[in-house]
Amino acid sequence: MAKIILDPARSAGTVSKNIYGHFSEHLGRCIYQGLFVGKDSPIPNKNGMRSDVVEALKKLAVPVLRWPGGCFADEYHWEDGIGPQEGRRHMVNTNWGGVVEDNSFGTHEFLELCAQIGCEPYINGNVGSGTVREMAEWIEYLNSDGDSTVVRRRRANGRHDAWNVKYFCVGNESWGCGGNMRPEYYADEYRRYATFCRQYGKNRLYKIACGPNSDDYEWTRILMERAGKYMDGLSLHYYTLCGDWQTSKGSATRFTEEEYYRTLFRAARMDELVSRHSAVMDRFDPDKKVGLIVDEWGAWYDVEEGTNPGFLYQQNTMRDAMVAAITLNIFNRHCDRVKMANLAQTVNVLQSVILTEGDRMVLTPTYHVFDLYKDHMDARQVECSVESESVCEGEYAQPQVTASASEKDGVFTLTLANLSAAAPVRVQVEGIRAAQCSGRVLTGPMDSFNDFGCSILEVRPLEGISLTDGSVGVALPACSVASLRIRA
Ligand code: AHR
Repeated sequence: MAKIILDPARSAGTVSKNIYGHFSEHLGRCIYQGLFVGKDSPIPNKNGMRSDVVEALKKLAVPVLRWPGGCFADEYHWEDGIGPQEGRRHMVNTNWGGVVEDNSFGTHEFLELCAQIGCEPYINGNVGSGTVREMAEWIEYLNSDGDSTVVRRRRANGRHDAWNVKYFCVGNESWGCGGNMRPEYYADEYRRYATFCRQYGKNRLYKIACGPNSDDYEWTRILMERAGKYMDGLSLHYYTLCGDWQTSKGSATRFTEEEYYRTLFRAARMDELVSRHSAVMDRFDPDKKVGLIVDEWGAWYDVEEGTNPGFLYQQNTMRDAMVAAITLNIFNRHCDRVKMANLAQTVNVLQSVILTEGDRMVLTPTYHVFDLYKDHMDARQVECSVESESVCEGEYAQPQVTASASEKDGVFTLTLANLSAAAPVRVQVEGIRAAQCSGRVLTGPMDSFNDFGCSILEVRPLEGISLTDGSVGVALPACSVASLRIRA
């Protein structure tokens, strides 16, 4: 038995819809084949964008999409990806698999994709191997309507009006693949590059600085101290591994119960990371004006057998659904500081919401979690405390139930996960007087997954919800993620 107590009087603020954002890099089959197949493909598409994938992403109401990387961003030169296709430069993608990048998907294509999905673009600029002028002119190309040579070029390439891109990050992982910089050096570089990221017209560019790698609190301290007043957001990257970086990250589909709990335990570490980075940021920004932008998160396993090791293709099980549920509950609870998050990566790479193979497409369990959670977007977060037993003894012991709640137009959304691989749990919801309640659930064995031609995991109505004296009672199956909609 677990008890959830909602306290509608206490709230950390609005859950930014951008917490439900995604990330798509020129990596493996994410952009090419996953999102973009080109106009001449036999796979149904609109202006080169896969229609099935775009439709699936629209159903999730994806709010924001980050591009072009990742590590790729610091080798990407935007001018290579504009203008007539036949004139576009070819390069070798040295970060990811050494394949030829023909730049057929560039700025215009990305912004067309965002328009089709109905989401905001989030562009990551190149500090590692690009110049200040190159970055400044990209922003001019994107957002200016002035009569300059750069803007005339955009118009000659078929786009008259500025796109008014809002979200822009200055470098990616500048502590690693983006240039192996020290925080002191990057802080100065950030200040220099960000100065020339100009504001055009009424559009307000939301400038994001490269933030820390997982628990590097010193990076956060130095960036906030030296460059905090020049930024709107600071990024954070944290990946959940079952194994380790050096030997094996573990299999995506074959794992023991202990490995299952270890992975979930490590996913839950996001709470500590967000809390501690926020505490450091509070010292320099007590009014929480600078958002923490978790623009890379998710589970990272060994690639599937027989696939290019540089393509980071992995299957996605109920374990990943739990990773997503745990993480999104954490972001909701910390919505006073976490203003955006981007799951890595949308299609065919790492913890994807969609997998494709030729013209076939599979929605992963993680996709369904985003579907279950979408009512939180732009709702008012409501504090909820969870009293629950532990699952798994020893090092990976953790609460059996995780939850987060929000309210919009008199309807509460309560998302819950029962982490136990084997045992159902009865949950009682208190703190509000419920008049009506409905629910949806995703459940299956911890290592089950959807495969091409065989999708066994999908969202179903949650049966057996009881209402007694305004208190909701519900039984959650083992290894399940649920969303309750409660009218008070
Ligand atoms: O998402 C894959 C890679 O992980 C990104 O390119 C990089 O930023 C991170 O290390």
